[in-house]
Amino acid sequence: MTTTDKSSEMGEFKGKRALVTGGSRGIGVAIVRRLLDEGAEVLTTARSSKSTVPDGAAFVEADVQTRTGIEALAAAAKEKLGGVDVLVHNAGGARPHEGTSAIPDEEWQNALDLNFLASVRLNSLLLPGMRERGSGAIVHISSAATLTPEVPQFLHYVTAKAALETYSRGLALEQAPFGIRVNTVSPGRVASPGGEQTRKEWAKVTGQNDAIPAEGAVVPLGRDGLPDDIAQAVLFFASDRAAWLTGRNLTVDGGEFPMG
Ligand SMILES: NC(=O)c1ccc[n+]([C@@H]2O[C@H](COP(=O)([O-])OP(=O)(O)OC[C@H]3O[C@@H](n4cnc5c(N)ncnc54)[C@H](OP(=O)(O)O)[C@@H]3O)[C@@H](O)[C@H]2O)c1
Repeated sequence: MTTTDKSSEMGEFKGKRALVTGGSRGIGVAIVRRLLDEGAEVLTTARSSKSTVPDGAAFVEADVQTRTGIEALAAAAKEKLGGVDVLVHNAGGARPHEGTSAIPDEEWQNALDLNFLASVRLNSLLLPGMRERGSGAIVHISSAATLTPEVPQFLHYVTAKAALETYSRGLALEQAPFGIRVNTVSPGRVASPGGEQTRKEWAKVTGQNDAIPAEGAVVPLGRDGLPDDIAQAVLFFASDRAAWLTGRNLTVDGGEFPMG
């Protein structure tokens, strides 16, 4: 990504150390790219696919759905970065099922582990360092789907993201006195490998190809989101431009959810 705007020339994140989960595809890649462009030192993680991580970012293979993966990631952050100033919890997702009663218990647990508890666990390991330094910016990636929980195929995922949003607001209040800001970005429908795959599986489990609106059809701004649309919002929350913002949840959806 070439950078031509003024803030980019200034390297807004120069001297900052950033950890982004899920930086090998989709929205995570866009966040990593933007942070690198702005001068941050970036470490990212995924379970595989190191080759698709943007050049210039450090990478560690770790599964954030597991406690051992989280511990390995926190250790790598300390070793490779020496500490974390910006923490972006982006890895997430879930497989759709035919309806709530078809979601196996294990899938509920997986959805909670990946979309909610991964953030809780990683934050608890990295917050002490931020508190010592008296600063830090945490950004959680939720989903605008929490505004429309009527989609039963995804209720495990949406419930986990809703928990993440509530946790994020509470953590923001707790950490504010220590100079740590915590915010959430909730994407609408974004064109990413994970998003496309999920929508295909959704059509399959419902048996209705027309259950999923065509690209841009339900979005007032006329197109699906790009990963970089989300990255821009994440960088704003992570930057000093958002110095007086904490506990917020910004829906980035092309206008699809006016109440978001
Ligand atoms: N795309 C959308 O329409 C949309 C809408 C609302 C919210 N979101 C949210 O936005 C975030 C990013 O979505 P995306 O569409 O960019 O997803 P994506 O294309 O599937 O990419 C997900 C990234 O996370 C990594 N990842 C997944 N599970 C992981 C695990 N257990 N441990 C470590 N890394 C893991 C993936 O790499 P590996 O598979 O190699 O591990 C990949 O790098 C997610 O939290 C998602 O819920 C997306």
